[in-house]
Amino acid sequence: MHTARIVDMNSVKRMFPSPLFRAMRWVRRRRQISLPQQIDASCRETEIFWNDEFADLLETWGANNAWNELLFLFAGRTGRVLDIGCGVGVAISLLDRFSKLEAWGFDLSEKLVNRAVQRGVGTGRLTIGEATKMPFADASFAWGYTLGMLHYLTDEEIIKVLRECDRVVIGSTFHQIPVDRQGNDMGWVKTFQTVQNNSLAWWEAKFRSVYPSVEILDSSWADDMSLGKWAICNRG
Ligand SMILES: C[S@@+](CC[C@H](N)C(=O)[O-])C[C@H]1O[C@@H](n2cnc3c(N)ncnc32)[C@H](O)[C@@H]1O
Repeated sequence: MHTARIVDMNSVKRMFPSPLFRAMRWVRRRRQISLPQQIDASCRETEIFWNDEFADLLETWGANNAWNELLFLFAGRTGRVLDIGCGVGVAISLLDRFSKLEAWGFDLSEKLVNRAVQRGVGTGRLTIGEATKMPFADASFAWGYTLGMLHYLTDEEIIKVLRECDRVVIGSTFHQIPVDRQGNDMGWVKTFQTVQNNSLAWWEAKFRSVYPSVEILDSSWADDMSLGKWAICNRG
């Protein structure tokens, strides 16, 4: 004889957590451990780019904010566009709806790039490497962008990446960045990850040191520490 069992959904969730649920739990746990703390640049950690929960988070973070904005920025554009620090390739997949645009991805982490392959981004469009030294010929792309990527870099690396953008991209590059809510230059901070959290003026000076024309627009992405901005860098 079968006895009916009442299923406790919470225990089911604990046994089979969805990737998003696992990622949110991981972020919550890491946040509890460490509220934003200023740290020295030497304490910067990059292992997170090989972490499964971080990869899960990249599946959803820009939905309804930064990724929509990217679509508005690229609607109607044509040619080859490079996503620098493409992660798991969500933004590339979204841009694939524009038939006259060909989105390519570049990232440090083979683990994240493999996920982009799993979601259907062709391997011919994906390259693994260091954005401060990209293996592309001058003027290989019509456009370029970084989404939530530059704040993981040192001051020197940010300038190198912008110079590489200027070298490999013919047209404008678009950079989505978090800036400190209070307008402070905090330098490196540690939350569940280590990132730079600086003022808009700090970032603007970086972009202007490489590009002659820079437009700053608001992004609707935000978190407890930072507000999102777009820097649109034009070559003149
Ligand atoms: C927060 S993730 C953002 C990923 C993706 N742009 C998105 O919107 O989901 C930052 C990404 O930058 C990549 N990255 C960090 N430093 C890099 C570097 N020096 N060269 C290339 N990629 C880098 C990381 O591997 C990671 O995929």
